[in-house]
Amino acid sequence: MSNLTTFRVWRGDAEGGRFTTYEVEVNEGEVVLDIVHRLQATQAPDLAVRWNCKAGKCGSCSAEINGRPRLMCMTRMSTLPPGESVTLTPMRTFPVIRDLVTDVSFNYAKAREVPAFVPPPGLAPGEYRMAQEDVARSQEFRKCIECFLCQDVCHVVRDHEENKPVYAGPRFLMRVAELDMHPLDAADDTGLDRSRSAQDDHGLGYCNITRCCTDVCPEHITITENALIPLKERAADRKYDPLVWLGSKISRRRPD
Ligand code: SF4
Ligand code: SF4
Ligand code: FES
Repeated sequence: MSNLTTFRVWRGDAEGGRFTTYEVEVNEGEVVLDIVHRLQATQAPDLAVRWNCKAGKCGSCSAEINGRPRLMCMTRMSTLPPGESVTLTPMRTFPVIRDLVTDVSFNYAKAREVPAFVPPPGLAPGEYRMAQEDVARSQEFRKCIECFLCQDVCHVVRDHEENKPVYAGPRFLMRVAELDMHPLDAADDTGLDRSRSAQDDHGLGYCNITRCCTDVCPEHITITENALIPLKERAADRKYDPLVWLGSKISRRRPD
């Protein structure tokens, strides 16, 4: 079964742009990216869009559908309000290159600012042992496909360009949290206090745990509850109750 649906697509570049309206065929079972491909094949051959896997795994096709940050390849047309037009815009937080394609290099720069895992002294790879609870935490965070939808939706940078230099955003605060809670990370021994660095270097204090990042994550990572809130608690313990923090270090969890 097919029908005609109105698509309002933002077309333009860094200089500016406007919405162009298309009437386009939609078939049963199709996702928004199918419709974009049909537009390219029929009415708008020069429409710029970034995509790779069409399976929700490469994180390339991020855009805003009716104002909500989403993956175009994972948004079924049948989940959008029937009979209404569909509005398609590029991610608002990042500079537009052309049409639906944005420059997400802000995120790569933020990734480089997070110091890597510090291997535990005296243990060789292969000798590491971790409790399953700690493995599960890292595994949840590492489901991230780097679609940057959480970065896009976070109001700290979405509405405040001026915050970008001092704010890493949820995806990279989650990375700091993962390493700070990692039982084998030996950053402390090098003088790096990751929870303090989250506050001082990555702007953790700007996050007011609105949960918007968690709501848009296509991998259903519980960014707020499992990463941001624990990181805030650890930063507060470190600052206001150093004895509690020291105790948590001494009793580092070991596998049974
Ligand atoms: S919970 Fe924090 S990081 Fe997530 S969207 Fe809200 S302010 Fe941003
Ligand atoms: S945490 Fe989720 S929303 Fe954020 S970049 Fe990773 S997969 Fe995308
Ligand atoms: S095309 Fe890969 S996530 Fe959508």
